[in-house]
Amino acid sequence: MKKIIKVILYLVLLLATVLLIAGSFIQFSALPTYKVEMSEHLKNLQVSKDSANVVRGERIAAMLCVKCHMGTDNKLVGKKVLDMPKEFGDIHSYNITQDKEAGIGKWTDGQIIYFVKTGIKPDGSYAPPYMPKFPLMADADIESVVAWLKSDRPNVQAAKEVQPKNKPTFLIKFLCRVAMKPLPFMENITAPDSTNQVASGKYLATAVLGCFQCHSENFKTNNEINPEKSVGFFGGGNPLLDLEGNVLKSQNITFDKTSGIGKYSEQDFMTTLKTGHRPDGTTTRYPMEPYTLLSDNEVKAIYAYLKTVPVISNQN
Ligand code: HEC
Ligand code: HEC
Repeated sequence: MKKIIKVILYLVLLLATVLLIAGSFIQFSALPTYKVEMSEHLKNLQVSKDSANVVRGERIAAMLCVKCHMGTDNKLVGKKVLDMPKEFGDIHSYNITQDKEAGIGKWTDGQIIYFVKTGIKPDGSYAPPYMPKFPLMADADIESVVAWLKSDRPNVQAAKEVQPKNKPTFLIKFLCRVAMKPLPFMENITAPDSTNQVASGKYLATAVLGCFQCHSENFKTNNEINPEKSVGFFGGGNPLLDLEGNVLKSQNITFDKTSGIGKYSEQDFMTTLKTGHRPDGTTTRYPMEPYTLLSDNEVKAIYAYLKTVPVISNQN
């Protein structure tokens, strides 16, 4: 009997030692790095920098990138991101101006696209989920964002300010070893024709504007490659943070009549999305910010698409 207890004791000690070593390995090692596997096409890509393309990219970036990267002097020099879970530590977005040292002035067009879609930087390092990825965005759309980043617009001109380097916490390091991995690179994606209302609404709500990311159950159980496989797809409940760090759950935006937006007419939806004013007189709070730049047709397409999403009953 005594022998058995001794054996168990040794085993427990052994396990504890193994865990301790694994833990310190994770704690003291850097984040894993990855191979940059860019196609020849992507390596040589020079996106069109004509003004139409810049205007197109500027509009997309205004809805997707500027909020997180806008720093002082109206330049995209990065800043402390306030609505980050505390477990992630102090997180700063980085300088993405054209400065060759402080910003991304040395990155080729293809390297920027590869990064925004996969999360892998030119040096093989990986940006954890506090920098969102856009794997399903159509080539023409992401290319236009690059055209804007390299344009003569004042907010992307070289600026020297640098942010403190993010120090991933143990949790982030642990998750980056076991769960959070770069996304596969997908190219040759074309956006659906705008005459196909449901398909273009789906493209906007999943691939570009990431509505499903906030509006499904939790970032941890979202599926970025197959958005429909995200747990509680569009059923809301994702615990998000406002700028003071208070939890605010996302709303159910499936067409459930009581807990979702089943009673919203197309016009109600349009007003809520573009102005933030709900039919009941309340206003949507941060991080749900009005999408003032969307055209009426785009909002109608998103509405038409959401109507096709399986209804979930989930009161938040
Ligand atoms: C939710 C906030 C957020 C949004 C939205 C966002 N970013 Fe970022 N971005 C970050 C953070 C945080 C980092 C730093 C990641 C790290 O620690 O490596 C980052 C890093 C980057 C980098 C790498 C810079 C470097 O020197 O390593 C680039 C390029 C970039 N973002 C471009 C974009 C573009 C383009 C968009 C829009 C399509 C965008 N970001 C949207 C938060 C954001
Ligand atoms: C950054 C996360 C985030 C993103 C991205 C986001 N939302 Fe929201 N949304 C929220 C939160 C949080 C609320 C709840 C706000 C509140 O309760 O004041 C909300 C509320 C709403 C509402 C109001 C629902 C109601 O019950 O009245 C609608 C409609 C909506 N979002 C649609 C969208 C659409 C469409 C998109 C994409 C174009 C989108 N949201 C993108 C976080 C987000």
